[in-house]
Amino acid sequence: MSFTVPMGQPGLQHDPQWYRRAIFYEVMVRSFADSDGDGVGDFQGLISKLDYLEWLGVDALWLPPFYASPLLDGGYDVQDYRSVLPEYGTLDDFRELVTQAHQRNMRIVIDLVVNHTSDQHEWFEKSRTDPHGPYGDYYVWSDTDDLWTDIRIIFNDTEDSNWAFDAERRQFYFHRFFSHQPDLNYGNPAVHDEIFDVARFWLDLGVDGFRLDAVPYLYESDEGLGESEPETHDFIASLRAMIDKEYPGKVLIAEANQQPQEVAEYFGSEEAPECHMAFHFPVMPRLFYALRSQLVAPLIETLNETKDVPGAASWAVFLRNHDELTLEMVTDEERQALYGWYAYDPRMRINDGIRRRLATLLDNSRHEMELAYALLMALPGSPFLYYGDEIGMGDNIWLQDRDASRTPMQWTPDRNAGFSTADPGKLYLPVIQSLGYHYSSINVETALAQSRSFLHFVRQLLHVRRSHPVLGVGGYDTCLTDNQSVLAFVRTLGADQCRPGETPETVLCVFSFAHHPTTVTVSIPESVRGKHLRDIFGGSVFPDISGKNTVTLTLGTQGFYWLAVE
Ligand code: NOJ
Repeated sequence: MSFTVPMGQPGLQHDPQWYRRAIFYEVMVRSFADSDGDGVGDFQGLISKLDYLEWLGVDALWLPPFYASPLLDGGYDVQDYRSVLPEYGTLDDFRELVTQAHQRNMRIVIDLVVNHTSDQHEWFEKSRTDPHGPYGDYYVWSDTDDLWTDIRIIFNDTEDSNWAFDAERRQFYFHRFFSHQPDLNYGNPAVHDEIFDVARFWLDLGVDGFRLDAVPYLYESDEGLGESEPETHDFIASLRAMIDKEYPGKVLIAEANQQPQEVAEYFGSEEAPECHMAFHFPVMPRLFYALRSQLVAPLIETLNETKDVPGAASWAVFLRNHDELTLEMVTDEERQALYGWYAYDPRMRINDGIRRRLATLLDNSRHEMELAYALLMALPGSPFLYYGDEIGMGDNIWLQDRDASRTPMQWTPDRNAGFSTADPGKLYLPVIQSLGYHYSSINVETALAQSRSFLHFVRQLLHVRRSHPVLGVGGYDTCLTDNQSVLAFVRTLGADQCRPGETPETVLCVFSFAHHPTTVTVSIPESVRGKHLRDIFGGSVFPDISGKNTVTLTLGTQGFYWLAVE
């Protein structure tokens, strides 16, 4: 497979707000490509696929943890923040990845696991064996497990308490996730210094930013519920201040799975900025809800609630990632409905969520996949793709935990889907062979050979979005419609937001969640009146709307339009 990309400017282009126009791609090193045939993906494998990612139109990679780890939580159980897992390669390989990505003007964002470490981290070893030593206070210890019993348990399928007893220290330690992941004690300033230094270590190696893992849970208090405590925000603001001062242009992305207003707080304020981006957890499940209920009201409500973000902050919008499709923050009715539609087999469920990939969730419906991606690319914020979803990869619910959707990337119809030359039994996880998703038909090579494949569709979407910066940085306004299954909004880029070479632009986006063809009358805002509409993809000019304050459109099943207002 060879990928030709137009010659651009070599190297990273200077742009402190690069993340606002970027398309991100989440890729686990372990899962993408194995260069040395040991059955596990590695940095060299990922480097060999950068041409593919550039061809696809990706501007930044997000790499989940690749640090030394016992891998009991996909690497989010960090044993040493400064070394890479030997199976993935060496620090020099990582440096080469950064250099090679930067040569393509592609950024690298990595995970900073701030809330906890593995119980095999040497800080924890020292903390439990030497309570009065320098690491004695690095974790949250207590003589009793009766403290903060109102704090919810996140991994409620596996854990029945947020406390675990350590037989060596003869005390309980606090953990918000697995019991092998003790929470760091942010009440101890030494922990702040350690995390700052870890951040500096990777920034010195050239990374472009961090996803702050599990960031709401840093502090606990008697008054709060251990989520989004004021001190947690103070810590993030201080981390941001350090980064702005010492490493300007690097970004922080909040993984805060909270209610809309609470997530938005992770942007901080003009005076005390926190994260540049925050994952848009509230909108994601509502999108899946709309796909099946054919009702867009909850989606509109959430989008309106999260419209205003301070300064240069930006939402990170996504459909799927390496975790379950989390339903922690939806109403009980919504959760039950979503389980009924998307997780009818109990094996599909985990904790408060669904462990399936995009294509399987959507029953491989091309209409739905296109609609979901088109909406993702048009929503305010920057889209995050999950590796493999661009070819409609399947999952394996017979695997444990969230490994269901972390299987090897499918490149070719050959052995191990072209991911590795290892004996198939040696792969870190088996490749997908289920009905309808077998790697012999779902793979990059086959998708490339079919000009109407989903992969080509996704690529076109990415490239069209790239040439319309309004979709990245423009304002957002919902339009009223007379159809409860249709979402319509305008995105507007004013002259003050344009960079040299860009022009002000307005786009009317219309998405039908109806399961049959439908008609909609959209009220158009003043800014759009008296103009013409032109389809961005094919260039067709739509009936004249000058002099009208509504436009009536017909949409095919789960169809959509991106219409330039001219
Ligand atoms: C959030 C990560 O996305 C998830 O994979 C992990 O299990 C938890 N943090 C705990 O580290």
